Amino acid sequence: MDKLLELLADGEFHGGDELGAQLSVSRAAVWKQIQKLEQLGLEVLSVKGKGYRLAAPLELLSEESIRAQMLPRAAQLLRGLQLHSEVPSTNDLASSLASKSPGSGWVILAEQQTAGRGRRGRHWISPFGCNLYLSCIWEFFQGAAALEGLSLATGVAVVKAFEALGIQGARLKWPNDILIGNAKVSGILLEMTGDPSGRCQVVVGVGINHKLPLAAAVGIDQPWTRIEDVHPGLSRNRLAAEVISQLLIMLEEFQLNGFSAFKDQWESLDQYRGATVVIKTGADDIVGVADGVDATGGLRLLTDRGIQVMKGGEMSLRPKL
Ligand code: BTN
Repeated sequence: MDKLLELLADGEFHGGDELGAQLSVSRAAVWKQIQKLEQLGLEVLSVKGKGYRLAAPLELLSEESIRAQMLPRAAQLLRGLQLHSEVPSTNDLASSLASKSPGSGWVILAEQQTAGRGRRGRHWISPFGCNLYLSCIWEFFQGAAALEGLSLATGVAVVKAFEALGIQGARLKWPNDILIGNAKVSGILLEMTGDPSGRCQVVVGVGINHKLPLAAAVGIDQPWTRIEDVHPGLSRNRLAAEVISQLLIMLEEFQLNGFSAFKDQWESLDQYRGATVVIKTGADDIVGVADGVDATGGLRLLTDRGIQVMKGGEMSLRPKL
């Protein structure tokens, strides 16, 4: 099926006989594979006498293209790059890889996730071939305490990648959503394996809406956007290369200097500084004025009862209406 996708990716018509010959299978077998593509959510048009074509051209992820476009320092830090067609979750795959092959610099990408995960137990919508789903592994030796602020620094790295690609107006929402024009374009999910008080591996998971189809986005319960709407025509491999580069460079810096190297940058990108916000903790809603972050990445909230510092985890921020 991967080979068939490569042949159809150009969005042009290809006859059943031609496809069969290229794949060394019968026309009936081609038709069966076409049905599988449709099950992935891809729209395939079939016209008598002309053959099959995808409703829109598809840029498949390419290891060669991503590697060729990475920043030189990041290419040195990259230990291995895995591209998968379909996985439950790149974070799950990365966690099991981290437990088998410790060390930093592994990156896993997938065309589709069947069980993509978001923060607070949510589902991350992950249809085939139109977004980025990636997980990066980095090893730390001082336990979980040394990781404070890492999810915020990840947000800074993603925004840096956007800026390097000419995608303008990206801002951050505590703890680590990336917004463009007040709508979410990317989310971050950090997970840890190993010893929480010593040698541990962090899986940095990043999802970016690139060309998320409107039909697939039904059910997202907050304003969302996609790169295609703000920067049409941007190559997905180019985007992947820049995001992976900025992530690896950030992780190397974070290992050396921690969140202090990113605090000012995070605050300069803070969408809600000075705004009245509601922090949903699960149990309570806490209202206050957002006042930047402290040295650990906790949100400083000016409340009736003085300054309260919110710690990431299971909390989320909403503007107060
Ligand atoms: C959020 O904003 O709720 C976090 C979303 C994180 C999604 C990414 S996609 C790649 C990686 N694999 C997952 O299952 N989740 C993260």
